Amino acid sequence: AEGGNAEAGKTKSATCAACHGADGNSVNPEWPKLAGQHPSYIAKQLANFKEDARVNPSMSPMAKPLSEQDMADLAAYFSSQAAKPGEADQTKVALGEQMYKGGNNATGVAACAACHGPTGAGNPASNFPALNGQHATYIKNQLNAFRKGERANDAGKMMRNVAAKMTDAEIEAVAEYIAGL
Ligand code: HEM
Ligand code: HEM
Repeated sequence: AEGGNAEAGKTKSATCAACHGADGNSVNPEWPKLAGQHPSYIAKQLANFKEDARVNPSMSPMAKPLSEQDMADLAAYFSSQAAKPGEADQTKVALGEQMYKGGNNATGVAACAACHGPTGAGNPASNFPALNGQHATYIKNQLNAFRKGERANDAGKMMRNVAAKMTDAEIEAVAEYIAGL
């Protein structure tokens, strides 16, 4: 994602806008918000879709024609946009907060905050993505995909190891908590 140009990325993002929103704030909760995400993480995902290390019927064909420069420019554009806050189901955030900050010692689930940060801002130096304000439905889909091993582009199985030990109720709750961060 080095050398990305946000202005050039804006021009190239016209085809992305239908799903992710012109400013990277998608409306459909199955389509991730990209606004404010770290550029290095966005570029990594695009490269992963292009090389089939991550697969999705909507997204994979979009990534195929992109050059390295396109990916860097698109990443620079979407990361420069302001993320709109999300909304959490308040009946689920108590368990979600407990999972997010403390994990589950009994079953060996690591605390999300250790990598994604206490406010969900992630850590660009380690390419840990920002999660704060993301759609709960999208978060839930990703955790289920990691749990089943259908998404396997996490270096060192970092996310697959976490998700494998989570229950449906824990996934649901932590997704709601993250949406409200
Ligand atoms: C996921 C970028 C076009 C639907 C993603 C992700 C990125 C991205 C970076 C991963 C986000 C994350 O991991 O948080 C782009 C760019 C596009 C584009 C730069 C234009 C070149 C589209 C279009 C659609 C779409 C047109 C709908 C037809 C999706 C979906 C996912 C996704 C459904 C989630 C896939 C999954 O569940 O694993 N996109 N996108 N994208 N995008 Fe796009
Ligand atoms: C990615 C949630 C714990 C490292 C993700 C994603 C979600 C997530 C939803 C996908 C983001 C997206 O597609 O935009 C969680 C939750 C956790 C947790 C709910 C606690 C239960 C951890 C821990 C680590 C970690 C403990 C570090 C050891 C990562 C990394 C990625 C990621 C490296 C990016 C993988 C890639 O490159 O595609 N996490 N996470 N996460 N998480 Fe976690």
